[in-house]
Amino acid sequence: MNSEVWSKIELVQGDITNLAVDAIVNAANEALAGGGGVDGAIHRAAGWEDLQAACHKLGGCATGDAKITPGFRLPAKYIIHTVGPVFRGGQRGEPELLASAYRRSLEVAAENGVRTIAFPAISTGVYGYPFEAATEIALRTALDFLEQGGRVERVTFVFFARADFDLAQAVLERLRREPASG
Ligand code: AR6
Repeated sequence: MNSEVWSKIELVQGDITNLAVDAIVNAANEALAGGGGVDGAIHRAAGWEDLQAACHKLGGCATGDAKITPGFRLPAKYIIHTVGPVFRGGQRGEPELLASAYRRSLEVAAENGVRTIAFPAISTGVYGYPFEAATEIALRTALDFLEQGGRVERVTFVFFARADFDLAQAVLERLRREPASG
């Protein structure tokens, strides 16, 4: 992994709705119907009615896929809605579906000229995905995307809780020390 790729990854603690990036990612549900957690926070900050109307036109989103809307009242220009898997023990394709949610979000970002993107910890709240395993998938997927020449300048991972931010930093450090595989 070259050093340029690592320098494009950033971890921060805070509320994703405050970030002035090109796009923030929403941890949505398949109906794109709005909800609690980060989805609720994004809906409130963007303007619930505008965002609901835009989501309604998209006709839902499969688990592992991603769709884009304007950011409306957010500082971010766009919202990329992705749906992570509900964790049911880990043997039902959850790792692949979670990786797909990150990868598809990055692809949709690149297709729309997004240079800076911020992700919440998808699936780690209501959907129950164990935090460390989910964070490793998130970071590896972003690193792979960037390594393969994905046209995004900065990928920010936002952690609401201080403890999550600390754990994510430890995961990133562990990945950085991994011997390069051929
Ligand atoms: N900024 C950043 N991260 C946040 C914020 C925020 N403002 N608020 C919460 N988090 P969750 P999921 C973190 O449950 O597990 C919704 O109802 C939170 O600490 O929001 O993918 C949807 O409609 C956690 O680490 O998403 C779906 O039905 C992370 O965001 C369902 O929940 C994700 O937690 C999706 O569940």
